[in-house]
Amino acid sequence: MNRTFSLIALAATLAVSSLAQAAGNADAGKALAVPCAACHGPDGNPTDPQYPRLSGQYRDYLQEAMSQYKNGKRRNAIMAGFMQPLTEQNIADLAVYFATLPGGKLDDLSHPAKGQ
Ligand code: HEC
Repeated sequence: MNRTFSLIALAATLAVSSLAQAAGNADAGKALAVPCAACHGPDGNPTDPQYPRLSGQYRDYLQEAMSQYKNGKRRNAIMAGFMQPLTEQNIADLAVYFATLPGGKLDDLSHPAKGQ
């Protein structure tokens, strides 16, 4: 009985720790975000609709997407190349940075990526 309980407690601890994501730092993220502007636009607002907008997206969504390019769950050669050299801490920093930028244009129907 006791042993069963310990195993359940251990499993729960492992589950929680694997879900816990590193806390990000927006200033560090801003410094790392310089090369991203070539495609995702200044401050994560792309001018070319083929690139996804990053500004104002949910932090956990951005973080998960970037981790998945890094670990291969999401397959995209360009993004895999950019995420490969980064640590999970770098990714957390980038996610916080882009999530804190104004995302009002996400709802702007005049943006070329919308209303198609
Ligand atoms: C050479 C162009 C290019 C550069 C530079 C680039 N990306 Fe991307 N990024 C893309 C493309 C194309 C996609 C869409 C890929 C797909 O279809 O999954 C993408 C997708 C993403 C996504 C997923 C967005 C979503 O809505 O699902 C994130 C997050 C992201 N990039 C972050 C970054 C960050 C952070 C950097 C800089 C470290 C960066 N990208 C640099 C081209 C680029």
